[in-house]
Amino acid sequence: MDLYKYIRNIEHFPKAGVHFKDITPLLADSAAMESCVEQLLAMIENQKIDKVAAIESRGFFFGTLLAQKLNAGFVPVRKPGKLPYKTLKEPYQLEYGMDALEIHEDAILKGERVLLHDDVLATGGTAKAACNLIEGLGGVVVQCNFLLEIEFLNGIKKLQNKPVKSLLKF
Ligand code: PRP
Ligand code: MG
Repeated sequence: MDLYKYIRNIEHFPKAGVHFKDITPLLADSAAMESCVEQLLAMIENQKIDKVAAIESRGFFFGTLLAQKLNAGFVPVRKPGKLPYKTLKEPYQLEYGMDALEIHEDAILKGERVLLHDDVLATGGTAKAACNLIEGLGGVVVQCNFLLEIEFLNGIKKLQNKPVKSLLKF
């Protein structure tokens, strides 16, 4: 199934000059969702995955579905102050200013094989911070897996020496 038609362009959101990719038409269609999960799984190519780590908040939409299909555990990577137990924290650069991500320190065991999933790869700062958290716990990032990639922002450069796969490219 061609999933491009389920991605809606919104001009000037969340601010002037930004072309936002809205995935809610995809989320709203169960057949498109089913096909999307199948296509994301096909990118993983039968590699053994112990945990799927997904990034708050839009990464959660597909992250838990992928974990179930892969018979893997699910690990939420969250914005600061949301996770209740002891955490590792990793700051990252936004277009303007800084943010940070956190992971529970017992979420991934040393040597576990981890699929990182998020909806969008843009500048790559978010995914890079998540990779640092996974590796900080001793996990191995088997693949950085995205629903869509904004290619001109060259986020892939921040994820050097990691396998990166995106289903849809803009
Ligand atoms: C968006 C998107 C990715 C990230 C990509 O999330 O869902 O997580 O930005 O950007 P980058 O590659 O330039 O780092 P956002 O922080 O807007 O939050 P949300 O998922 O909660 O909407
Ligand atoms: Mg996000």
